[in-house]
Amino acid sequence: MKSPLIIANWKMKVSGDEALTLARQAVKATAKYKSAEIVLCPGFTELAGVASAIKGSSLKLGAQDCFWEESGAFTGEISPQALFSYGASYVIIGHSERREHLAETGAMIRKKIFTAFRVGLVPVLCIGESFSQRQEGQKEVALIQELHQALDGLWLTEAQRLVVAYEPVWVIGSGQAVSGDEAEHTHQVIKQTLYDLFPASVVQEQLRIIYGGSVDPENVAQFTIQPTVDGVLVGGASLDATVFTALVAAAVKAGC
Ligand code: 13P
Repeated sequence: MKSPLIIANWKMKVSGDEALTLARQAVKATAKYKSAEIVLCPGFTELAGVASAIKGSSLKLGAQDCFWEESGAFTGEISPQALFSYGASYVIIGHSERREHLAETGAMIRKKIFTAFRVGLVPVLCIGESFSQRQEGQKEVALIQELHQALDGLWLTEAQRLVVAYEPVWVIGSGQAVSGDEAEHTHQVIKQTLYDLFPASVVQEQLRIIYGGSVDPENVAQFTIQPTVDGVLVGGASLDATVFTALVAAAVKAGC
């Protein structure tokens, strides 16, 4: 049984003391679920505080984005190198909210992925189809295209790990997740594409595919029991320690 990877994306919803409190509560409440790998992704200004709140626990730190250069004249951007030195080990890249609101392109996402690897971060590449792409039967085409845009020409060393997060855009924040069966089918398409891009051993040992989009304590097991679902990326249900802990408990119980 694989250990589920559970990534909490707090988005721009938790700040200041609230973030510290939530991190401390999460440390305490999830401590007994040792078989899950849990990553908290607060906003940039909360990284240092959350890093100290989770110090000594098994929880890991992630960021919600990074820039594609390590340093330079890029006003307002965040260096992946700085994230790494703050203690982050993961970075979410290409979230659909950034693709939509900040016009992030496949080319930008690709550069971010390469730079994240260079500094030692594990990228969490988000891909997902829009509602209209799905209605037009273009879901798989859209996902395969996003994977190629981000990953073509990438070689992983043995030590490097990559996470692909499948998040159907139209499901995010809706309270209506897709079914476990649909997630599994889509993950198989993603996995097949990864086999086209990487050697089989890399896909089997170094890549994980997780599902995101309205995951909650009640539905998480229907995803984590699926053979190609390695974990979940959680938005709303990660903002309350009790709800998040119930989600972790259900994911661990169902296994991965
Ligand atoms: P929700 O869990 O709130 O749908 O958000 C999912 C998401 O966007 C995580 O990155």
